[in-house]
Amino acid sequence: MSLTTEPHNTIAGAFGIDIGGSGIKGAPVDLVVGEFSADRVRIPTPKPATPKAVAAAVAELIDSFDLPHEMPVGVTFPAIIQHGVALSAANVDDSWIGTNVEKVIAKATGRRVHAVNDADAAGFAEALYGAARGQEGVVLVVTLGTGIGSCLVVDGTLVPNTELGHLEIDGHDAESRAADSAREREDLSWKEWAERLQRYFSVVEGLFSPDLIVVGGGVSKKHEKFLPLLDLRAPIVPASLFNAAGIVGAAALAARSATAAD
Ligand code: BGC
Repeated sequence: MSLTTEPHNTIAGAFGIDIGGSGIKGAPVDLVVGEFSADRVRIPTPKPATPKAVAAAVAELIDSFDLPHEMPVGVTFPAIIQHGVALSAANVDDSWIGTNVEKVIAKATGRRVHAVNDADAAGFAEALYGAARGQEGVVLVVTLGTGIGSCLVVDGTLVPNTELGHLEIDGHDAESRAADSAREREDLSWKEWAERLQRYFSVVEGLFSPDLIVVGGGVSKKHEKFLPLLDLRAPIVPASLFNAAGIVGAAALAARSATAAD
């Protein structure tokens, strides 16, 4: 299966769903331009967020749209997703580990579903339509939120599940020190947080020598507070699709997977 960003999708539209800790958001996506083709719908993530409860909520969300049955559906999930199966659960209910996310949601919705890691979806959308569009070589997209998500795209091909938020740096799981949640929890100033980000990105840059680093997650809207404080070899820029990235990337990857399967 080819995941390159060129040539363009042959499927013009797909549905993307972003499953997060507090909300499940979905919208149909126009894959020619990488934008929603109808307003996004958000429903709260059920508590506890067990596979069955989340799958039922996803079905409810999809049913609120009148979608053609054959439209590819992509879902993001904040865990390692290998061939549809969740292999980790850093910030989600443990019962997901070992669950085939694609099968559980396909059963609840009656549709073929493609599941991907949340940062892979967001990063792939940035590579295809956003801040890294047209960039050759190694693109690293890092999302800073509750955890740290990472997405590596090499000459347009996604290398999935890099999980660079869990690098062990100075004896700590990196995201426990450098995620946006650590800044909030410890009430760090922008300067203090930027020092942690400097350490984090220096290690990551030493490992991958990216040509471009894109920073996503909600806090990237405040990029002028911390990105100028970082000193790296590669240019480091804010994401441009913001909270649309996960939905758009999930839809794009689902369309590619459906094309490859046909
Ligand atoms: C998870 C990743 C996820 C990231 C962002 C990390 O804790 O391990 O799978 O991409 O958080 O949600």
